[in-house]
Amino acid sequence: MNYDVAAVRARFPALAEGAAHFDGPGGSQVPVDVAEAVAGAMLAAVANRGRVTAAERRADLIVTDARQAVADLLGAHPAGVVFGRSMTQLTYDFARALAKDWGPGDEVVVTRLDHDANIRPWVQAAAAVGATVRWADFDRDTGVLPVSAVADLISPKTRLVAVTAASNLLGTRPDVPAITAAARAVGALSYVDGVHYTPHALVDVKALGADFYACSQYKFLGPHLGSVVADPELLETIRPDKLLPSSDAVPERFELGTLPYESLAGSTAAIEFMANLVPGEGTRRERLTRSLAALHEHESVLLARLETGLRALPGIQLYGDPQRDRTSTVLFTVDGVAPATVYERLALAGVNAPASHFYAIECARWLGIGDAGAVRAGIAPYTDVSDVDRLLTALADIG
Ligand SMILES: Cc1ncc(COP(=O)(O)O)c(C=O)c1O
Repeated sequence: MNYDVAAVRARFPALAEGAAHFDGPGGSQVPVDVAEAVAGAMLAAVANRGRVTAAERRADLIVTDARQAVADLLGAHPAGVVFGRSMTQLTYDFARALAKDWGPGDEVVVTRLDHDANIRPWVQAAAAVGATVRWADFDRDTGVLPVSAVADLISPKTRLVAVTAASNLLGTRPDVPAITAAARAVGALSYVDGVHYTPHALVDVKALGADFYACSQYKFLGPHLGSVVADPELLETIRPDKLLPSSDAVPERFELGTLPYESLAGSTAAIEFMANLVPGEGTRRERLTRSLAALHEHESVLLARLETGLRALPGIQLYGDPQRDRTSTVLFTVDGVAPATVYERLALAGVNAPASHFYAIECARWLGIGDAGAVRAGIAPYTDVSDVDRLLTALADIG
């Protein structure tokens, strides 16, 4: 394997604090390259976007570079990249804008596997216009969302299907291309939550068939920022509420207020960092393809070690089916010890693995673990074997 985790780790100043970070699915640590890009954008002269002064041109370049980088990351068109404060904010904005065309008799499909950010905005937008919500359930024992669970709810009345590309609780990866195809077959739109998926896989929005694909830069080594990508022609058909003087062009029409230029510079640096996880030549998309394949291999080796170790410990309940296609994220409980207590004891041992429902509250309730949730351990680009072994040793002391 050509993945040099020591070289990757050396770029993360935060790791010097000494904790083993399994909290990446909540937000990853940041390489120095990203922090420097953020600082660079703040230390140079930057003004509002424009073409007259150097400061205006710099702001403009930051934005166009950032759109191109996200387009390279996701296999999207740069003119279809919308930036916002977070995936949640963007999804609320799109839900309100799309629901302007819905009414009684129209239907929206959501799934219980999803994070609430890809459920509640649709439920509330549907309620506001009298549209109906259909709920797709996943299999509690396997953590799998069968295509049929969603497809069976889709009908000519369906206007939108919201589905996750990967569960942030279980790591489960539904068959998104099959689900989006079922939506398209009846003329419905698909809104795919890629927040947990994007850090772990090479995304190709066209292959996924997603009309909208959302992700959050702070989950893949970047700053706190969100993006939604869509075909620019589709974006042209949507009329969000906006200020009178602000641009009506796509994608600016969807970006309320002034963009966070420093975060956009950090986003570009994070995508460059992901592309260079394995150093080499090529276009950014080619480098991303190579680096994310190596990252997947690295994460798979650590995931197997973690799961084998967890299964060997007494009293550990693992959720979801480890045999299925999934990200390197595990969810577990320890018999007789509250998840919050496990979390605190792990923290005392220098292992950061929080316990919660992680906002996938429908998923946690459907699984039967309730609002206390369970302990989640996510493997990130900077995770190494010693981190995994520290987690297993600390758990052995708790159980
Ligand atoms: C799967 C998933 N979707 C959506 C979100 C919300 O993202 P944001 O914090 O950018 O709103 C998260 C955050 O944890 C997530 O894990």
